[in-house]
Amino acid sequence: MAFNLLNTDIETLTCPALVVFSKSSSQKDKGAKITHPELHKKLQAPLADKAITGHHQESITLREFAYQSYRHVIVIGLGKENEITHETVRQSVAIAYEAIKALGAKEAALHFDGITTAKKDAAGFAKAVAEGLMLSSYAFNELMSKKDDAKEISVHVVSKSAADKSIKAAFGEGLVLASCTNFSRRLGDMPGNLMTPTILADTTLAAAKGTGLKVTVWDKARIKKEKMGGLLGVSNGSAQEPRFIIIEYKGAAASKKPVVFVGKGLTFDCGGISIKPSAGMEEMKFDMCGGANVIGTLLAIAKLKLKINVVGLVASTENLVGPAATKPGDVHTARNGKTFEVNNTDAEGRLILADALSYATELEPQAIVDAATLTGAMVVALGNTHTGYFTRNSSLKTKIEKSAIESGECVWNMPLCDFHVKDMKGTYADLSNISSGKGAGSATAAAFLEQFVGEGIPWAHFDIAGTGWAVGSRLPYCSKKGASGVMIRTFVELAKLHA
Ligand code: BES
Ligand code: ZN
Ligand code: ZN
Repeated sequence: MAFNLLNTDIETLTCPALVVFSKSSSQKDKGAKITHPELHKKLQAPLADKAITGHHQESITLREFAYQSYRHVIVIGLGKENEITHETVRQSVAIAYEAIKALGAKEAALHFDGITTAKKDAAGFAKAVAEGLMLSSYAFNELMSKKDDAKEISVHVVSKSAADKSIKAAFGEGLVLASCTNFSRRLGDMPGNLMTPTILADTTLAAAKGTGLKVTVWDKARIKKEKMGGLLGVSNGSAQEPRFIIIEYKGAAASKKPVVFVGKGLTFDCGGISIKPSAGMEEMKFDMCGGANVIGTLLAIAKLKLKINVVGLVASTENLVGPAATKPGDVHTARNGKTFEVNNTDAEGRLILADALSYATELEPQAIVDAATLTGAMVVALGNTHTGYFTRNSSLKTKIEKSAIESGECVWNMPLCDFHVKDMKGTYADLSNISSGKGAGSATAAAFLEQFVGEGIPWAHFDIAGTGWAVGSRLPYCSKKGASGVMIRTFVELAKLHA
């Protein structure tokens, strides 16, 4: 494995590079502290003249420093001791990973114990270190004719308490969460021609092998037989067949109700007859990120062997303009019998989710949680920092907030009320797929989805349109342009709270 936890002394290893951390002082004129005492002594001069400040995100590479067996020493700033969180560590480790890469080193040691000195929560920090490293290691270059050989970097995380069971388990959990996130990122980054609904389903089947997950895939004929008029209607304009992917995980007694995760798997959305503008349309290969992240969530839950029952449902299709494409004004019937007018064929995500949510309801779950790149309005409202979520269930809301704090992912609760529901009434059918009102496009989309969730079932909808990909340079462990794998870590935490 590229990243491991070693129970040894930094001084006993032989490695080209060493990563240590620095912390800034909370007293104004006091200098920074290097977390490794021996190096702190050796670096008195740069500490005194503030060449090393210990500020969060500071990265200083001391080339040819020659400490013990290490040729180079990398000093990464953590900020003030009392302000260090798991997210600080995730980011700092990612910055360290970049510095190792910049050196061209294939192997490095990382001094873990310095991070935790004043903090009791060593296991939480071990998890964050593992996540920071594994998330940083993701690169999508498989379609390049020349491969990037800098990919395989080994980092030994060195700690005197590495033998501690809880620290080991947490480190392992971090690796699983992040590698499943990387798996989902790849699904998102693949272009539409190489990640069709069929390929998405086949890739899920292959990934599930040996994990204990049961994957069932419905083809077009079965989808028709199952009365999934939304999914079928959206797929009408495409030469590619739709797929409905069912992923089952049983980690608890059969009597225990499952949590169902539902994902939008639009492998390409050109808008259909209500076609999108060309500029930026290539980004609509990412319209399956909700589905991809649900698949990643199920893989992580299975690999962590959580003691819960979980089902993942991914409705997958393209939205194109073939001769049989759904036309504006067409009426389709969803699985639960409700009819809807398609007044804008670009509002297709809600149509395929309608069937998936109806099916989820039939499973009589503890809760339903969906993820979808559903509306451009979400990007306007929250940009790429926060994922907006909608729920009318206060206990589920509390669980979501708790899970997001644990995962370090930013979420924001959005409004959903009967006003929004009213705006989605149809003229010729039960519902319209676009709102009759002004603005609040993300909330009215959520209100449409709500019509397919059984009464009394706690349900939350996560609109990841702004956070599913291209989250910019804010998160050093996340690529600027590609898929982010957002909400996988939060969903795993949320699943745990339903045990
Ligand atoms: N996949 C898009 C939403 C989207 C847009 C996600 C931009 C990320 C970035 C979705 O299918 C869509 O096109 N929604 C429409 C709905 C509208 C027609 C009511 C939108 O948001 O414009
Ligand atoms: Zn669309
Ligand atoms: Zn879409």
